[in-house]
Amino acid sequence: MTIADVVFPSAMERELPSGPKGLPLLGNLMDIKRDTLNFFVNMSKDYGDIVPYKIGTDRVFLINNPEYVRYVLTLNQRNYGKGKFFAKAKPLMGGAMVMSDGDKWLKLRRTALPAIQGKALPQMAEPIVDAVDDVIARFRGNVRSGTPLDIAPEMTKLAMDVVFRTLFRVNFDYDADRVYDALSAALGEVEQRIWSLTPISEYLPTRRQAAFRRNIKVLDDVVRRVIETRRADPNEYGDLLSVFIRATDDPENMTYTEKQLRDECINFVIVGRDTAAGALIWSLYLLSRHPAVERRLRQEVDDVLGGRRPTYEDVEKMPYMRMVLDEAMRLYPPGWTFSRMALEDDRIGDVDIPKGSAVQMCVYAMHRNPRYWDNPEAFDPERFSPERSKGRPQFAYLPFGGGGRVCIGRKLALMEGALVISRLLQSFQFDLVPGQKIEIEPMITLRPKHGLKMTLRDAEPAGEAAAAPVRESSAPAERPASAGGCPFAAAHSA
Ligand code: HEM
Repeated sequence: MTIADVVFPSAMERELPSGPKGLPLLGNLMDIKRDTLNFFVNMSKDYGDIVPYKIGTDRVFLINNPEYVRYVLTLNQRNYGKGKFFAKAKPLMGGAMVMSDGDKWLKLRRTALPAIQGKALPQMAEPIVDAVDDVIARFRGNVRSGTPLDIAPEMTKLAMDVVFRTLFRVNFDYDADRVYDALSAALGEVEQRIWSLTPISEYLPTRRQAAFRRNIKVLDDVVRRVIETRRADPNEYGDLLSVFIRATDDPENMTYTEKQLRDECINFVIVGRDTAAGALIWSLYLLSRHPAVERRLRQEVDDVLGGRRPTYEDVEKMPYMRMVLDEAMRLYPPGWTFSRMALEDDRIGDVDIPKGSAVQMCVYAMHRNPRYWDNPEAFDPERFSPERSKGRPQFAYLPFGGGGRVCIGRKLALMEGALVISRLLQSFQFDLVPGQKIEIEPMITLRPKHGLKMTLRDAEPAGEAAAAPVRESSAPAERPASAGGCPFAAAHSA
């Protein structure tokens, strides 16, 4: 008897369920390229709980039922590995935790966990607020000149800086702009590779490939410097970097080699950057379009902080902030999709899943599925109040994944979101520059394709803001146009 027999005892039919027709050799690749997000949203509406489709000649099963997601991520998680789409990111990400399976993954995860959650977390609040204060000081120039800012790269740089300051306690100038550019370009190349059906171009001596290698070297160099600086420093920091270095220097620990140390460090920059930035970018976008929500949040920030710097303890005291962040990540989940590969034949519900097939969770489609969400296109933070959350299936909401591989940085990301947004609101009003095209680009993470331009003004005190005229009265549905993107990238897991 298998786990599937226990979990799905009444399985009768065993035919492949229906799904969208594709083209020979390409499968549904052109449909995905044309309008990625709507392809998945429509599949979840038009077909059943499990929908087969093809990327090239590879069969993929899209899972639309939260109970089936639970099955893959928890009940039978041992049968589901990371799969071949992840291999495309190997030159950049090596064999880091996100890319690993089995015993190696477990060791890496157990080593990192205490240094990123639990007692380590409160120590990270201050460096986060320091990082956002540096950004605020720069933004003041824009307030004075009235020059609009593109919030997307700004928040991405900030999220990267947060990783360097919290997990590595870097206290030297690491040339953040250069590292930011190199990482952005390297991730862009990985996205291209995920898209292409044949890997031929990866082996050709093109300028693009040379640039990819150069960008990886920039990242390697900065990580080497971070490690060397720490090894020469007699102080104990108790951060993730010291945990990694201790494990590497331990002759008994065969999992951590110098290469593994490099891979883990680079990966934490990658996984902690665009995801956390996505949550900040889309939250600021939604707040600028929904003044009533923004006013209420501003009031909460004012009531709790009264103008002083936010601390770790304050985060818990701002429940509306958490609802806003949760709702922003429902509508715009930075990790909009992720996947697994069946290691052995299995069955989910009544559908046979042959060994080697990919199983995909489309977080974006699940978060907008009317079976689990009332009025799913509306921005309504109150839906995350304890009363209205009752009865919702757990895996209908999965911005951080779930099960044994649930995002290890989720507590950090939520704290970062609350500290950064509250600090920014204390300083500024954010107004969207009118007339700009806002399009969601679903690449490795969900990002605004043309950026997000905003004009900043000095913040008004909450009381005055509450009395100010409403900047926009209607609550528009939250579905900007979606651009074609990367089919299977999965949050920072590519
Ligand atoms: C809003 C921000 C974030 C979102 C939406 C997010 C989302 C996710 C998701 C969906 C997964 C699961 C992928 C899968 O199951 O294949 C994941 C895994 C992971 N995340 Fe995050 N993440 C965020 C922030 C962070 C941060 C700040 C860090 C650390 C600095 C981080 C580190 C990781 C790691 C290491 C994994 C792999 C865990 C494993 O394989 O065991 N994440 N994240």
